[in-house]
Amino acid sequence: MERTLVLIKPDAVQRGLIGQVITRLEYRGLKIVALKIIRISEELAEEHYAAHTDKPFFKGLVSFITSSPVVALVLEGKGAVGLVRRTMGATDPSQADLGSIRGDFAQDMGRNIIHGSDSPESAREEISRFFSDGDLLDYDRDLDGWIIES
Ligand code: RTP
Ligand code: MG
Repeated sequence: MERTLVLIKPDAVQRGLIGQVITRLEYRGLKIVALKIIRISEELAEEHYAAHTDKPFFKGLVSFITSSPVVALVLEGKGAVGLVRRTMGATDPSQADLGSIRGDFAQDMGRNIIHGSDSPESAREEISRFFSDGDLLDYDRDLDGWIIES
């Protein structure tokens, strides 16, 4: 089963949308295997967004993601990385489909509610950046067989 990292960003925390976002992910059938609320340090932000270091929006991005607590989750499911990305919607909320998290809750690229890993490789890297192995729980839910045909 695949795992992915989600961050519920400062805008969603400040707007009281933590529950709404988690509800969308749970409705999709994803299993929460780790969850915590944290304040991201500047060092962690720069590492997490290292691919964007040279972009003009980098400084604003680091300042935004460190501006208030975020909720970090590890989610498990069949093709969890792609499933979460589709549930999130396009990076620019003005282009995101209605029914997606960004399409329903956001307007602006720099205030787009949620982060999700973009590949299984980055998921592995990002999960270990935010969580230690002992934080990740293995457990069964009675309804798992109603979500994924085994
Ligand atoms: P994220 O990493 O936050 O999940 O978002 P993403 O994969 O959909 O988008 P990515 O390309 O990784 O960009 C990371 C964040 O940088 C901001 N951004 N601004 N002004 C711009 O052109 C621009 N491009 C990206 C967004 O906040 C995006 O979530
Ligand atoms: Mg990204």
